[in-house]
Amino acid sequence: MVKSENDKCEKEPWRGQYYRLEEIQKHNHSQSTWIILHNRVYDLTKFLEEHPGGEEVLREQAGGDATESFEDVGHSTDARNLSDTFIVGELHPVSILSLHSVPDSFSWTNWVIPAIAALIVALMYRFYMSE
Ligand code: HEM
Repeated sequence: MVKSENDKCEKEPWRGQYYRLEEIQKHNHSQSTWIILHNRVYDLTKFLEEHPGGEEVLREQAGGDATESFEDVGHSTDARNLSDTFIVGELHPVSILSLHSVPDSFSWTNWVIPAIAALIVALMYRFYMSE
């Protein structure tokens, strides 16, 4: 049983086929529509017109990471099984890092909060020393 599952894994032709974000972003039009779901790359060009949720939602996500939108919809198991047939490869590890890196706004709070805390401590210190 376990062996047959492993065999299935090895036969998946897209495994080890890596694409960088810059490459995927080029496929953002109706002639070639790629999206990323859970770090895997999907070519949905031939599925656009058949998608029960409509063509438009897929077009909007074309060339980018659609994982959140895909999960928000709560796609059925059938939909997930169907999605496997469109996988063409995996997101390159370097692109995974850049896609999931900490957004700027977070690094901003990383220094703003300590700066405000330091200011409060400095003011308190001055206040008590002047007495
Ligand atoms: C490989 C990619 C995808 C496949 C194979 C797929 C397939 C399907 C299928 C089979 C359904 C019918 C309902 C179900 O069985 O869950 C559906 C509905 C839907 N999908 Fe997708 N989908 C994909 C990606 C997306 C993405 C990326 C979005 C959002 C940007 C999306 C948005 C929707 C919406 C809004 C519906 C309608 C839900 C409803 O009527 O309740 N889908 N999709």
